[in-house]
Amino acid sequence: MGKAAAPAHVLVFPWPIQGHLNAMLHLAVALAGAGVHVTFLHTDYNLRRLGAAAAAVASPWLRFMSVPDGLPDDHPRTVADLGEIGRSIRTAGRAAYRALLASLQLMPVDAAGGGFPPVTTVVADALLPFATDVAEEFGVPALAFRTASACSFLAYMSVPRLVELGELPFPPGGDLDEPVRGVPGMEGFLRRRDLPSPCRHHGANNDTAALLGRLVNAALHSSKARALILNTATSLEAPALAHIAPRMRDVFAVGPLHAMSPAPAVATSLWREDDGCMAWLDGQADRSVVYVSLGSLTVISLEQFTEFLSGLVAAGYPFLWVLRPDMVMASQSTTNLHEAVMAAGKNSKARVAEWAPQRDVLRHRAVGCFLTHAGWNSTLEAAVEGVPTVCWPFFADQQINSRFVGGVWRTGLDMKDVCDAAVVERMVREAMESGEIRGSAQAVARQLRRDIAEGGSSAMELERLVAFIRELVM
Ligand code: UDX
Repeated sequence: MGKAAAPAHVLVFPWPIQGHLNAMLHLAVALAGAGVHVTFLHTDYNLRRLGAAAAAVASPWLRFMSVPDGLPDDHPRTVADLGEIGRSIRTAGRAAYRALLASLQLMPVDAAGGGFPPVTTVVADALLPFATDVAEEFGVPALAFRTASACSFLAYMSVPRLVELGELPFPPGGDLDEPVRGVPGMEGFLRRRDLPSPCRHHGANNDTAALLGRLVNAALHSSKARALILNTATSLEAPALAHIAPRMRDVFAVGPLHAMSPAPAVATSLWREDDGCMAWLDGQADRSVVYVSLGSLTVISLEQFTEFLSGLVAAGYPFLWVLRPDMVMASQSTTNLHEAVMAAGKNSKARVAEWAPQRDVLRHRAVGCFLTHAGWNSTLEAAVEGVPTVCWPFFADQQINSRFVGGVWRTGLDMKDVCDAAVVERMVREAMESGEIRGSAQAVARQLRRDIAEGGSSAMELERLVAFIRELVM
């Protein structure tokens, strides 16, 4: 069947935060590239924030639409407001999504939208279980997309078993280095501290404990979707995928999606990228620079900032540090923090950016290692480029991702729960100098490139997904 004859139209609905937008937009681009119509659903606020960059979508197969997130226009929507944003999306956002889906179904062929047929499939963020339920109420089949690792997904799914076995809640004051039973395939390897961070609050009566409940329910709810899509590769996570698959209706391991997107990819950055850091990297020697970024959500204290800074300076390599304006908890202005870094780095050895073109940075010949929070996108982006990582996980899936980086893939070091200048210095040095870590990182990168190349496992999974989506069109 020729591409033009395909009537499939997928509505992609992500949680409106950077890490989820990136992964789901890469999937949207891949589907559009295969000749499937895709409507990508932003929130009004994010679409405004993306501005002209979002409007410049070149593909006739892909368009952006938006719904309100239910918060007032002037709401700051900071990291601290994530709980409130989530509540608002589950109420006002849900109603707006339902109305939009209804209107898209009523329009047989949407002439204004460039001839998009009615929606035939929803690909909903697995953290928005209501989005799959609402779609199915309309008779639209829904797939769930979890943007994090398979290992973290399996850990969330296993929480009821951990409770049954008495592993959760942790005993008060208990040793976080104790191994935990109950996550299949990871017994003896996973320690309490490696479980997704909300597990530390299981049994408590606070927001984090409530968050764990939602994450676990969302993971279990994915089994109701027609299929689960994961941004991972079988070569990285075969054992976890094998334990997940029997509990889902189908599973597609289609990652790393960012490496499959044709360049230039559609703009996804909610912050303005500082392109000047690329010119700065051009002036540095091969593999001499430490790239430091803790993702889009991490917030650190001023003390932690100071420990990182001292460790980086003591390690003695030039470094490029992404310091988002909302990243350091303190009365300090971002300008003061930038000045502190520049002064400590003696100006020539340090560069600060509020937001960097991370994929380009990691691909740059000057980057020698990546000090990261081990968010799943960042982990995959480093893996594809063969860049060794030092992981300082902040929250959620990052705790288990970093355990796999340090203990399974051996592409980096796990610095979790320690923020000490001497440890930062030692681990950065090791990641920069160790031939063994670099060798593993490069081997993983070579394998991932095979996986996404024609005939590779992820490329074939993506083809299978496209066929699956077309078959859902009745
Ligand atoms: C977090 C999670 O830990 C992640 O696993 C989950 O799926 C979503 O929530 P986040 O903190 O955003 O995500 O980290 P990460 O998943 O690494 O995503 C950050 C994205 O922002 C990456 O794609 C990275 O390339 C991009 N980025 C980051 C930039 O483009 N520039 C920067 O300066 C920093």
